Amino acid sequence: MTGWFSKLVVGMTIRMPKWFVGWVSRRYVAGNNIDDAIKVMQRLSKENACFTVDVLGEEISTMDEAQFFYDEYARLIEEIIKHDLDSNLSIKPTAFGLLIDADKGYQNIKNLVKMASDHDMFVRLDMEDHRVTQDTIDVVVNLHNEGLTNVGTVYQGRLFRTLDDIDYLEEKLGSGADYRICKGIYLEPENIAHTGYSEIVSATNASIDKMLAAGAYCAIASHDKPVIDHALSALKSHGMGPNVADPRKNSGAPRNGKGPGYEFQMLLGVRGPLRRKLAAQGHRTRVYIPYGEKWYEYSIRRLKENPTVGAQVAKAFLMPWTNRP
Ligand code: FDA
Repeated sequence: MTGWFSKLVVGMTIRMPKWFVGWVSRRYVAGNNIDDAIKVMQRLSKENACFTVDVLGEEISTMDEAQFFYDEYARLIEEIIKHDLDSNLSIKPTAFGLLIDADKGYQNIKNLVKMASDHDMFVRLDMEDHRVTQDTIDVVVNLHNEGLTNVGTVYQGRLFRTLDDIDYLEEKLGSGADYRICKGIYLEPENIAHTGYSEIVSATNASIDKMLAAGAYCAIASHDKPVIDHALSALKSHGMGPNVADPRKNSGAPRNGKGPGYEFQMLLGVRGPLRRKLAAQGHRTRVYIPYGEKWYEYSIRRLKENPTVGAQVAKAFLMPWTNRP
């Protein structure tokens, strides 16, 4: 999709009535509340998927708002366990206050990760824009140093710094590093990030290679064929794959709820047939399940942040055969 078309779609969408945006985003957002998310997970469990759940909302303006996210995630842990779902959590560090009060934000995240750890549950710190890249990595390292190893983060292939960041986490955490690698949704400035499609794909693939070589757990989060095909052949060259124990000499102990050193991750509502095909081949596939009352703000913000998302949503809407849920 060309840039002008993406921008056109975004320009149109933000002028659409809220009900219309809600109707389109229904496919990508599980609903308003925990019950909605549980129902979606129960349905997709039948497709051999496992999950990571995100309570919608990001940067906050007061620490009181962080309490909302803490309480909601605490309830979510209980509900996941009550319904015996194969799910972990994805959280946005800024929703816990990292940009308002770094110490309190850290403490909030730590309390939640500790609660999850008591239930043997993993917590993924989603990666937000470049203002918090280092802070987010630091939170993960500090939590590991405090004995909370059920936590990992996300690296964005498009950032120039990512290959160095992989070295950094390898140095700090060794094979305890647990990454999600994605292209990165934020359109970062060109002095710190790749901006062209093929450069972003190459950089993301190079990150996958480096993470696998480091022995780290690697969650490949992409719907893009060149990335998935590259990941499949890189896994093969390490002797990794479905139903075989992770053979890498430098890999860590098997992780609870995880695949054999890797897994594939996709967003709810995107490229279902591809996800089901990977699952049928035996790969562990995890679906990212966003829910929450702030679905409208989330959808509009995502569209503004990266207009190509608008074009992809429009394409899925107008040409449904190209991208089924
Ligand atoms: P690409 O954008 O080229 O998409 C390939 C195809 O997939 C498209 O042609 C389209 O058919 C379909 N598609 C992709 N996204 C779509 C969408 N939103 N709606 C409809 N169709 C779509 N980013 C980040 O910065 N920090 C993070 O923490 C995360 N976390 C994360 C978790 C998971 C599980 C996933 C899958 C992705 C993320 N991302 C993210 C987003 C990621 O960085 C990236 O922006 C998107 O995944 C799109 O990149 P693809 O590799 O899928 O390629």
